[in-house]
Amino acid sequence: MCGIIGIASNKSVTSNIINSLKRLEYRGYDSSGVATIDDNTINEKKCPGRVEELEKLLFNSPSSGNVGIGHVRWATHGLPNQINAHPHSSELVSVVHNGIIENSENLKQNLEKDGYKFKSQTDTEVITLLLTKFLKKFSPLDAVYKTLEKLTGSFALGILFREHQNIIIGARRGSPLAVGYSNNENYLGSDSYALKSMTNKISYLDDGDVCVLTKDHIEFYDSKKNKKNKKVLILSEDKNETKLGDFKNFMSKEIFEQPFTSSNCINEYIDKIRNDINIIDFPLNPKKLNKIVLIGCGTAYHSCLVAKYWLEELTDLNVEADIASEFRYRNVKFNKSNLYVFISQSGETADTAAALELCKKNNVKTCSIINVVESTIARSSDWVLPIHAGPEIGVASTKAFTGQLLVVYILILKIAEIRKNINRKIFLEKISNLKKLPDLLKKSLKSEDKIQIFAKDFIDAKGSMFLGRGSSFPIALEGALKLKELSYLHAEGYPAGEMKHGPLALIEDGLPVIVIAPKDKYFEKTISNMQEVIARGGKVLLITDKKNEVINENIRFKLEMPYIESLLNPFLTTIPLQLLAYHVALLKKCDIDKPRNLAKSVTVE
Ligand code: F6R
Repeated sequence: MCGIIGIASNKSVTSNIINSLKRLEYRGYDSSGVATIDDNTINEKKCPGRVEELEKLLFNSPSSGNVGIGHVRWATHGLPNQINAHPHSSELVSVVHNGIIENSENLKQNLEKDGYKFKSQTDTEVITLLLTKFLKKFSPLDAVYKTLEKLTGSFALGILFREHQNIIIGARRGSPLAVGYSNNENYLGSDSYALKSMTNKISYLDDGDVCVLTKDHIEFYDSKKNKKNKKVLILSEDKNETKLGDFKNFMSKEIFEQPFTSSNCINEYIDKIRNDINIIDFPLNPKKLNKIVLIGCGTAYHSCLVAKYWLEELTDLNVEADIASEFRYRNVKFNKSNLYVFISQSGETADTAAALELCKKNNVKTCSIINVVESTIARSSDWVLPIHAGPEIGVASTKAFTGQLLVVYILILKIAEIRKNINRKIFLEKISNLKKLPDLLKKSLKSEDKIQIFAKDFIDAKGSMFLGRGSSFPIALEGALKLKELSYLHAEGYPAGEMKHGPLALIEDGLPVIVIAPKDKYFEKTISNMQEVIARGGKVLLITDKKNEVINENIRFKLEMPYIESLLNPFLTTIPLQLLAYHVALLKKCDIDKPRNLAKSVTVE
């Protein structure tokens, strides 16, 4: 998952490429590079580290040219160093690539036999050298098609040609690619976000498409090289949501935005006059549904798991929740009476997109719960339910998680009502409780002071555990995931009842253990599990709610969250866990918005 930008213009493109690369850093940030064509020469500049490093390099050694490509990398093949950074250029072409070439080893051996020499350890360089080979006999477009025939895997490409200085060719198989239109300037980009600062007019390439762009014209071809037309889409305005304001980083901004984003989302879905849920156009009649299958990755998968508990509690439906990278390779038995629900913030996650494609091949109905409505997953689904959270920039998902929970909960309520699993009175009660959520989220954020103190216990900790039962179990998983990705500290999320089957052996004096135990039907059981942890020296942070009085002087900290009906607890208990991960990372001086080895959009499998 890397970021690609290409610009063909009537003026120098380097500074706009750098600006777009900064916007693209959420896709990868271990190295970056740019190539332009000027005076019949390919100028390639690249370096390890953030785009800032590339900017410094270009400041000391400027590159000019009216046509150029740029790249931010998230390493798959080869270390994140200068040689492996993109673009990869030969005397004839320069290539930027997102995705993976699965047969690169075979292709490399064949090219080496033909006398071609490789400089990097990347899979991308085979593309550069195949193009170089084919360009000796073919036009740029034909050379691209000849090269594409040889490649297996999933990828998006941007290519410059030294002898055809005014064009950029883009190609898409599996990984997303978009073009943007402006006056005397056209663009190629991994997504609309990369292009949004320059234009609001874009088109997406379909799988297998190739495009040829110059400063004043863009041509599209399908996988068989037939010319095709593309719809131009007008992007919605960015309402300055991507500015930091008074916050130190995007993660803290996004955590504190949750009362607002949840209120926004509730307003979109709840009709306050009719006291009803504005969800219509079900792709399948909810009364005839057999099962709901929920699919996602990482945090989005945790939303699926919470939804599973809710569906089982509120409806008579069968439910399954699966990790997309597992679902896509399992021998799944598809059923046309099932609804397949995909949850994703970015809508570009490769495994989730592939699982969706598998569903489409099997002719079953799909729904996506998504933040980026222009994304690949949203465009491919039968039905889209946006979470209305606004752009999420911090790599660790926070406001998108609560947004996903909110939309899936609202969907479940509507299904439960249509199926008459809950009566009108209960339905109205649940809606009225839901409307209290934004205020209660605001109150939960007040736990920050206590969390800041508890965070200090993690500085020298060897690891930590997060425990919960019922829907607090996925929240424990989510808390552990946030802590490990942000602070690089080992963290395990566990169902509290499973501890005695092995993980209890990990508890030793001073190990921080976070116990999530709101007053629900699991409360007493979880508290017993907590006592077992305390008896073995665990330093416990108990997250509970005001309706209970657990007194145990051996609890290191007790956090009382506002009281809410038990189904809605996951919204509130997740807040202190986001804050905990954030403050531990801050104390450990980790990069909050861009944790090491990660990227915001995971477009490789
Ligand atoms: C963790 C996190 C990731 C994402 C996962 C799926 O904080 O952000 O685990 O949730 O990569 O991404 P989306 O939701 O874009 O499909």
